[in-house]
Amino acid sequence: MHDMIVRLYRLPDIQEGTQALAQCGIRIRRCMPYELLTLQHWVSANFSPKWLSEATVAMAHQPPGCLIATRDSAILGFVCVDATMRGFLGPMGLVETARGQGIGRMLLLTALHEMRHMGYAYAILGGVGPVDFYRKVAAAEVIPNSTPGIYEDLLPDPPSC
Ligand SMILES: CC(C)(COP(=O)(O)OP(=O)(O)OC[C@H]1O[C@@H](n2cnc3c(N)ncnc32)[C@H](O)[C@@H]1OP(=O)(O)O)[C@@H](O)C(=O)NCCC(=O)NCCS
Repeated sequence: MHDMIVRLYRLPDIQEGTQALAQCGIRIRRCMPYELLTLQHWVSANFSPKWLSEATVAMAHQPPGCLIATRDSAILGFVCVDATMRGFLGPMGLVETARGQGIGRMLLLTALHEMRHMGYAYAILGGVGPVDFYRKVAAAEVIPNSTPGIYEDLLPDPPSC
């Protein structure tokens, strides 16, 4: 698992893609503090305890650093900014039934635009799985010698999760 870097000053426009999702009833927006427990329940049900931890930290910022894709008041996917380290994007993930429809692309690009507005010039994608997805959508490049990067000496997940 490598880290990747994205140039935030060369991002594709998201207006058209956002409108296309809206026509399907899909919205990408910030997760609000009063939705924290709902988000935690959803991440816990769909992903790992470590992603739950990172999403919780992202939600502790003001404004919260977690964006969600929703349809009919249900979460389809999430992405975190400034959770694991400053300048890091991730984790991100969609429920299996929502994958392969362009939602991940727009979730990622919306979060990257958000980081650009925050004042970052580059985003780091920490310990990525699908390298080709990030390469294709955001022209991300693998950072040499970034394995294991910051992800070393990991504590095991608690037994109750
Ligand atoms: C990875 C993930 C976020 C992608 O979201 P998605 O909505 O399925 O992706 P999209 O439909 O927006 O795909 C955008 C493009 O990336 C490609 N792509 C999507 N997933 C890919 C993958 N795993 N590997 C390579 N390419 C991929 C698509 O084919 C599409 O290409 P196209 O523009 O040529 O059609 C989603 O599959 C997911 O949640 N996976 C499980 C969790 C995970 O791995 N998260 C990343 C942790 S680092």
